[in-house]
Amino acid sequence: MILRAGIVGCGGISRRHAAAYDGLEDVDLVAMCDINRDALNNRADEYGVSNRYTDYPEMFANETLDIVSVCTHAPLHAPIAIAAAKVGIHVLCEKPLSIDLETADQMVAACHDAGVHLAVSHQFRFTPLFREAKSLVDSGKIGELRSIREVGKGREAGFELMEMGVHYFDEMDFFLDGISWIQAHITYQGHDVTDADIMHSSELCKTDRRDNGIVAGDTMLVHIGGANSTYGIMELYQREPRHGWMMGPHLLGSEGQLMIKPNPQTGIDEMWYCPFDVSFAAHTPVWEQIELDTSAFLISGKAWKSRHTIWSAQNMRDAILNGNQPELGGRNALTSLECVSATYASHFSGTKVRLPLEKRRHPLTK
Ligand SMILES: NC(=O)c1ccc[n+]([C@@H]2O[C@H](COP(=O)([O-])OP(=O)(O)OC[C@H]3O[C@@H](n4cnc5c(N)ncnc54)[C@H](O)[C@@H]3O)[C@@H](O)[C@H]2O)c1
Repeated sequence: MILRAGIVGCGGISRRHAAAYDGLEDVDLVAMCDINRDALNNRADEYGVSNRYTDYPEMFANETLDIVSVCTHAPLHAPIAIAAAKVGIHVLCEKPLSIDLETADQMVAACHDAGVHLAVSHQFRFTPLFREAKSLVDSGKIGELRSIREVGKGREAGFELMEMGVHYFDEMDFFLDGISWIQAHITYQGHDVTDADIMHSSELCKTDRRDNGIVAGDTMLVHIGGANSTYGIMELYQREPRHGWMMGPHLLGSEGQLMIKPNPQTGIDEMWYCPFDVSFAAHTPVWEQIELDTSAFLISGKAWKSRHTIWSAQNMRDAILNGNQPELGGRNALTSLECVSATYASHFSGTKVRLPLEKRRHPLTK
């Protein structure tokens, strides 16, 4: 069976979805939609897609799609996903799943009721390097995993939480075998965040145009509780990129450390290993790179060495064809966004907040 794919939203990330459908066997990219004709034509020309729409309900009505990628900004993820579900189309949604848990719950319910999959595209965990790192950690390469540290790209924390933060929560969920609680502290311009500091993401972050709904704070320290007394630490604060983005997990074990970070020159992820736990700089052996054979990165004869969307799209394709849930489908689609809500709920209550959250309303909506 060949799956017929469509894309709604033809901006930056749509290139990765188009490349994914172009590069996957058993999938044809047949239709694209954007309200901006230039963006639509640019992307559709690039991938030779002739069925073009400026209205997504019209695309869903005219085309017989099996899967759609939702690649607009976050506030439109829910209405587009729900409209797709109603006509029986599986949904691969860009992160963050939505702007709040109430609308995200509606997406999950609509897809469940329609018998279609809804998965969120946190592609990092599906890449060969992340899979290899997980299997090394599970086999004891760094002793007992103690914690994971992640640092944002340098944008204001409230904005960054919806950008890299949700990816990092997903990484933590992956490496820590689930997240059970969040404890967070948030500041804005040097003071503890209060109700007066809640604002729209465009007011907080003037350097990025994406709409992430309401947010708060320029600095955050988030503690994450994983399974078996393991922890995550996420630091989001403003800074200039100096040697490239630091994004990627630093895994600290009782007998060693692993890091996956993009090479600053090529942007391609590398995995590095240190056979020593955190200690004195002078006693720390040199880090060594663990390289995978190129064959590990091959899909349809091409090597995909970065954090390409093709890795999450492949998982979604297989789920549709095999009739099982995608790895980040169903309730799993909610986890990273649930952590965002838990971060704010923890700061404002001054307590450790357990998942899943009972209160589904956005904690910043008073
Ligand atoms: N997974 C990742 O690593 C990753 C990376 C980048 C962006 N993203 C996510 O992807 C989403 C899109 O980000 P982007 O950088 O591509 O944004 P973008 O601004 O480049 O593109 C968004 C596009 O959506 C279009 N659009 C707006 N309203 C529409 C509508 N009603 N119907 C159809 N199209 C409409 C816009 O015209 C625009 O072309 C965001 O949620 C972002 O967080 C994810």
